[in-house]
Amino acid sequence: MSRRKIIAGNWKMNVKPSETAALVKAVAEATKDFASVEVVCCTPAIDVPAAVAAAAGTHVGVGTENCHWEDHGAFTGEISTGMILDAGAKYVIVGHSERRQYFGETDETVNKRARAAIAAGLTAIVCIGETLEEREAGKLNEVIERQMKVGLAGVTAADCAKLVIAYEPVWAIGTGKTATPDQAQEVHALIRATLAGLVGAETAETVRIQYGGSMKPSNAAELLAKKDIDGGLIGGAALKAADFAGIVAAANA
Ligand code: PGA
Repeated sequence: MSRRKIIAGNWKMNVKPSETAALVKAVAEATKDFASVEVVCCTPAIDVPAAVAAAAGTHVGVGTENCHWEDHGAFTGEISTGMILDAGAKYVIVGHSERRQYFGETDETVNKRARAAIAAGLTAIVCIGETLEEREAGKLNEVIERQMKVGLAGVTAADCAKLVIAYEPVWAIGTGKTATPDQAQEVHALIRATLAGLVGAETAETVRIQYGGSMKPSNAAELLAKKDIDGGLIGGAALKAADFAGIVAAANA
């Protein structure tokens, strides 16, 4: 089964609307020769219109970093999937560990957001991953299985065409500490096996599982060479087109 590699930037809260076109255009230019790879920039919601305009006519897809599960209503500060689609984005990150850590996101709200995103026709990049404390306490498998089972409850095999899972060990995000390729592969295999239990083995084989956490040009190739690592969710290195393109190049190899 060959799964198309997907490299997505997660800009977090780092790029202004006025800076967005330049970064998207630089990413498009620097990655244009790596056509085998699905390339995405997930931006702050306020940057989406500028990102969509800059990406028009290129191979770069645009996404955002969160969505609400309701279609509209009195949810001050939230953004619906319909708004994201209307603005021209096609992807949304759901359940990033920073949302879980700082904004009260739970497996249950991750589930609501993921299902709403998929139902709307967005590709949901659903993030899971353990903290260092959980890993050291021997709870890695338990945490991953819970995040999968609760976070993806009700997601069907048909829905999986619009699902990407990002494994991001919390201890590796923005810290410069990367999981070793073997450590990452072990968890990716667990994720795929857990997914097989939810939607069937055949469908689970088709779902891309990204690694995220200090991925950069110098370590991307060895991570992406692993059997169940199908791409990357890139924070820091997504803010410089050359670094991001180096990762896309590794995925294209
Ligand atoms: P990082 O972030 O690449 O800066 O570690 C990854 C992420 O949080 O998605």
